[in-house]
Parts: sequence; C-alpha cells; structure tokens
Amino acid sequence: MLKKIVIVSLITVIISFFCGDRATDIIASIFNIMFFSHKTPLNTQKLFTKEELRLYNGIEKPNLYLGILGYVFDVTKGAKHYGSNQQYHIFVGRDASRCFVTGNFNEEAISEEVVDFNNEDLRSINHWFNFYKKEYTRIGKLIGKYFDENGNLTPYGKTVQNLIKEAELSKAKDNLEKVKFPPCNVEWDAERGTRVWCSDRSGGILREWVGVPRQLYEPGSKSFRCACINEHNEKLGQIKEYDGCGTKSISCFVKEQN
Ligand code: HEM
Repeated sequence: MLKKIVIVSLITVIISFFCGDRATDIIASIFNIMFFSHKTPLNTQKLFTKEELRLYNGIEKPNLYLGILGYVFDVTKGAKHYGSNQQYHIFVGRDASRCFVTGNFNEEAISEEVVDFNNEDLRSINHWFNFYKKEYTRIGKLIGKYFDENGNLTPYGKTVQNLIKEAELSKAKDNLEKVKFPPCNVEWDAERGTRVWCSDRSGGILREWVGVPRQLYEPGSKSFRCACINEHNEKLGQIKEYDGCGTKSISCFVKEQN
C-alpha cells in the first residue's frame, strides 16, 4: 500500500507539471485504476441479516429492498407498488418468495419456503426472479435460508436452485400435462382466503368445457395442484375433491392451494 502511495504521489507531481488543466482528470483515473479497479462493485456483495433487511421498507429507511430466493433487490423505483400502504408492500424488507406463487399476502402466510413447490410453481417463482433481475438492481443477499454468512448457497439454497433447473427442463412435458389437466384460476383475498375456480380458458388452455376444481396429485408425491376435471380426464390422474367444495361446484374456497 505504501509503495502504491509513493508511486501515485510521484506520478501526480509529474502529471501536474506536464499536463496543466487536464492533470486532475488524468490523476483521478490513475487513482481509480490503482486502488479500486480490482474490486467488483461493493453494492452487489452486500450481505443482509433479516433484521437489517427489515429496515428497508420505506418507513425506517427510505429505500425499498425486496428479497426473493435469498437475493436482495432495490425496488425503490417501484414505490407505487411497494411503498407503505401500497398493494405489494408485504414484499419489501423481507424474503416472501412463497407469496409470489400463492398470492396469499396474509402476515401468517409470509414465508421464504418454496422447496415443496411443484414444477409449475417453481417456474413461476423463477419467472418473478428473472423479472427482478431484468427490472431492478440486485444489491446483495440475505443471510439465512438460502445463503450463509459468507454469501455461499446453503444446502437448502442449492436444492431450490436444482429444483428450479429441473422444473425449467421439464416445461415441455408439463405443458402436455397442462392440456390434459388444465390448471384452475386462483385468487386470494384477506377476508375470504383462497378461491379456486374453473373457466373455459383457465390455465391459459382454451377449451369447450369448464370442469370442476380438484386436487391433482403428482405420482408418488403428497403435493398436488388444482386442476379442472371433467368426465374425460377424471380417470387419468390421481384426483381428490377439496374439503368443503361441492361435487359439482366450479368455484370453491379452499384452505391451501397446494
Ligand atoms: C399471485 C398473485 C399476484 C402477485 C404475486 C402479484 C405481484 C405483483 C407485483 C410484485 C407487482 C409489481 C411489479 C413491479 O415491480 O413492477 C404487480 C403489479 C401489478 N399487478 Fe399483480 N400480482 C398478483 C396478482 C394480480 C392480480 C390478480 C391482478 C389483477 C386482477 C394484478 C394486477 C397488477 C397490476 C395492474 C400491476 C401493475 C402493473 C404496472 O403498473 O406495471 N396482480 N403484481
């Protein structure tokens, strides 16, 4: 370090002597290269504790930071969505990855847990992650579920990244499955909870029938998704009725989407 300071001082004297007005710019550039060029920008390396991230909710601190899959993004420019009292405020100051998919923004439902998601849900959370990468600046990582205190992926973080990769790879196969068992529409509101329902285009599958919402289980798994079922596809998969949903109801309020 001392050696660098001596060299820079010498260069400064020489440049000031020969370069007159342009000396300041030239010296600043050299200074930059010698002391800072080897470093990647600090802001991409910041590690947040949960408590620290919690402050960036536009109230305690003016900036709005959002966590997703353990990464932290600065969403201050989206204050009309994330600011205090705005619709998506629950996403700032924390990692609420799960809620991007469930659409359940109730305080008790807020969670960063996604390992039990099915392929469709994993692609959905990955879609949101890619959205934030494209639209906002990534500023760091959250220490906890996905990253350790050195900023390395935890076993959980690695598992989720692998599951997401596999889910993206199986998209074509899953699309065929989607035509066979069209997904239900899902919405959530604070008073009534989660509603699932079928329509002749739910899941983006245009068809001539509507169907009724049912739990469709993946073979050999306890996880299910909501699928629209009719007399043609009811025998093709492992299907269960939702508790409290009439056999012929096309719309139901349910405890958990999956
Ligand atoms: C799982 C459910 C949902 C989630 C997780 C969700 C999440 C979000 C988020 C995070 C944003 C802000 C994006 C940004 O930073 O620019 C947003 C914007 C928006 N959402 Fe939702 N949303 C959901 C459902 C809905 C529904 C059901 C509607 C309409 C019926 C809706 C309408 C909108 C609109 C109009 C915007 C603003 C778009 C813009 O100004 O660019 N969202 N949503």
